[in-house]
Amino acid sequence: MTQKFKVLVTRKWPSSVENKLKDTFDVTLNENDNPLSKAELIEAIDNYDALLPTVTDTINDEIISSKNRRSKIIGNFGVGFNNIDIESAKKNGVVVTNTPEVLTDCTADIAMLLILGAGRRASEGEFHVRKKEWTGWRPTHMMGTKITDKVLGLIGMGRIAQAVAHKAHFGFNMRIVYYDPYFKNYEIAEKFNAQACSSIDDLLKDSDFVSLHCPSTKETKGLINLEKISKMKKTSYLINTARGDIVVEDDLVTALEKKLINGAGLDVYEEEPKVNSRLLELKNVFLLPHLGSATEETREAMGMRVFSNISSFFDGKEPRDRVV
Ligand code: DGY
Repeated sequence: MTQKFKVLVTRKWPSSVENKLKDTFDVTLNENDNPLSKAELIEAIDNYDALLPTVTDTINDEIISSKNRRSKIIGNFGVGFNNIDIESAKKNGVVVTNTPEVLTDCTADIAMLLILGAGRRASEGEFHVRKKEWTGWRPTHMMGTKITDKVLGLIGMGRIAQAVAHKAHFGFNMRIVYYDPYFKNYEIAEKFNAQACSSIDDLLKDSDFVSLHCPSTKETKGLINLEKISKMKKTSYLINTARGDIVVEDDLVTALEKKLINGAGLDVYEEEPKVNSRLLELKNVFLLPHLGSATEETREAMGMRVFSNISSFFDGKEPRDRVV
C-alpha cells in the first residue's frame, strides 16, 4: 500500500490495535472515548476513506447516503451489525464488514456465567455479604437451582450457541435442545447430543434455561414477549447475551414480578445503556453491562480483524468478513 488511507475510529480501541492502525493508515483515534453525534458521524463518512464504528454507533441511512460521502467501507468493531442500515449500505454500494469467530468463546462464557449467576443467585448473594447481612450458613439459606443435568434451550444455533452447547453439555451434563429454522448442520448438533425443536413454543415448554442466540432482525425484534414467556416453565430462567430488543423488556419485568418464571440473566438491554428501572428493583435477575466480548484477548482480536478487513479492501481484495 503506497497511499496512506484516511480512517476514523469512533471509540477507544485496545492500544495494540490503535498502534497497528497508526503504522499503516492516516488514522484519527478517539482518545477520550466519547460517543460521536450524528453530525460528527456524517462529517467522518464525508472526510475519511473508512469509517470504523462499533455496535453502539447508529449508522443510519442519513449518514450512509450523505451526498459528500468519501468512505467506501464501514469496518464494524463487533460481530452484530444491527447498528448499521444494511439496506442503505447495499443501495449506496458501501462495503460493510464485521468481526465474527474471535468473540465466540468469551461470549459463550458470559452466557454460562449468566446461567450460573441467575440459577445460583450470585449477585443477590454478593450484595448480601457486602451489606453485612449474612448471619451464617443454614440449611435453607438462599437456595437456588441446580444447573447440572438441566435442559438448556438455545434459540438460534450459530457459532456462539454452539460454543454454549459445548460448554453446557460437556461441563454441566445439560441436555441441549434448540430452535433455528436456518440451521441444518446436524453433524455439529450431534456432537453435543442437541435435539432440534420444531417450534419455539416446544423449546420454551421443555427448557429449564432458555438462552437467546439469534441476531436482532425485523423477524426477531420483540420475539420474546409476555405470551412467549408465559409458555416457559415456572421454574425456568431466561438468558440473553444476544441483543436487548429480541425481548420486550417490560414484558420480562412483568413476568419476573409476577414470578411467571424463576429468574433471568441479562447482558444486553432494549435501550442500552438505559436499563428499565423496574428491572433494577428485582432480586431474581442477574445483570451485566454488555460484557460478552469484554476480555483483553478478544477485544484485541476484534480490532485486528477490523484491521485485516480494511487492509484487504484497500489492497483491492475481498475482505474476509464482508457482510455487504
Ligand atoms: C458484538 O460484537 O456484536 C457484541 O455484542 C459485542 O460484544
